[in-house]
Amino acid sequence: MSEAIPAARERYIGYSETAERPENAELTHVRPGTPGGEYLRRFWHPVALCSEVSDVPLLVRVLGEDLVLFCDLGGRYGLLHRHCAHRHASLEYGKCEERGLRCCYHGWRFDVDGTLLEAPAEPANSPLLTRVRQPAYPVEVRNGLVFAYLGPPEHRPAFPVYDTFDMADTRRVPYTADYPCNWLQITENAMDPVHSVFLHTRVNGPSFNEAWGEMSVREYYETPSGFYYTNGRRVGDHVWVRVHHVVLPNLTQAGAVRSMSGDTPRYFGRPVFTRWVVPVDDENTRVIAWANFGPRTDEAREEWMSPIGIEIIEGGEPRTRPAAEAIRKPGDYEAFVSMGRITRHAKEHLATSDKGVAMYRRRLLADIRKVAAGGAPYQASDEVAAPLPTYAGDTVLRISAPSDDEAFIAGVCRQVAETLSAADPLKGADRDEQVIRELRAIERRMNGAAD
Ligand code: FES
Ligand SMILES: [Fe+2]
Repeated sequence: MSEAIPAARERYIGYSETAERPENAELTHVRPGTPGGEYLRRFWHPVALCSEVSDVPLLVRVLGEDLVLFCDLGGRYGLLHRHCAHRHASLEYGKCEERGLRCCYHGWRFDVDGTLLEAPAEPANSPLLTRVRQPAYPVEVRNGLVFAYLGPPEHRPAFPVYDTFDMADTRRVPYTADYPCNWLQITENAMDPVHSVFLHTRVNGPSFNEAWGEMSVREYYETPSGFYYTNGRRVGDHVWVRVHHVVLPNLTQAGAVRSMSGDTPRYFGRPVFTRWVVPVDDENTRVIAWANFGPRTDEAREEWMSPIGIEIIEGGEPRTRPAAEAIRKPGDYEAFVSMGRITRHAKEHLATSDKGVAMYRRRLLADIRKVAAGGAPYQASDEVAAPLPTYAGDTVLRISAPSDDEAFIAGVCRQVAETLSAADPLKGADRDEQVIRELRAIERRMNGAAD
């Protein structure tokens, strides 16, 4: 009997799929006044590396706004709207002074908060001095990154300080990279651990090592501020539990990469990057991050650390390289950017392996709508004392395989996840000690020893 042949309309469907579909504007648009843009403006975002800021003002574009970032000669950082409040010359041509920035055109001088300090062509008692302000945003400087808050002043949250901002024995290297695509394509990749199996291992050869090519057992958890999930794998006599953490809207942290093969015990490893995915505008994105090197992430090897910086990201995968090389061995950059400037959600086919992506989009949409309806997003920094606990990193326990290993690995992962969240009330070394003690206890229990 010959096989039934599907009707022609079910096979070569190219023509019927040529119709354009609209962008998912609610999730992807970031300019002022858009629902997504207003939501994103409720959070602090990094806008540059300190190493990019000198006595020459730096033009930056964030959330569709053109801004000028500078550090005055008194060492204070300022972030102002690009165009001078007088007659709109760009302040990128301004001069940094002991206090504030002087416009190149008629010499008006603005303080870091936008106060007009001097208008030299005007009478000394000019009412302009009290009436005119250059639009400005508050900034915070941490560990070589400049952060800014672009939202309504009355909703400004406390600056969020996470536990990974200050990890013992850790070398922190700031880096940044530009991507010509929408920010969501990059952020939601952090909720897609399955891509590591294929993009980084099976399809294109290992970016790190072969252990990444095994499909992991995945468990996802939602928290008031975002998501974390466990990726469990069997590596010989070890169970490797990799934890990713995504804090809404755009902070992501993940475990080690270059020195992680899952076959050496590790208890509460910590993230190799602390990374924000910052929308430049609807179609461009800037990743701004720290690479974290040390005994609990990737080793602090000089040859790994020293190249990292502008356009060179952490992770061993070159960000810019010859096109022929990228085609042979594509990485994250090629995947994100090749999806288009703004990928059309209406043309996708989300599958079971996209569980994390779907969870993230659902939550993001709910939070955007909450803000649009007059509500406020959850702000951990207003609710919890600093430093805020984070979960990302690798744990590798030495436990031999039982007969139903997949269910067993899932059980180990759940215990690791519970151990991490149970330690939330603790800070610093106390938290580390409790988590590590509990992880060792899990290992002993799973090997059949009494506690
Ligand atoms: S345009 Fe800036 S001082 Fe005139
Ligand atoms: Fe990746």
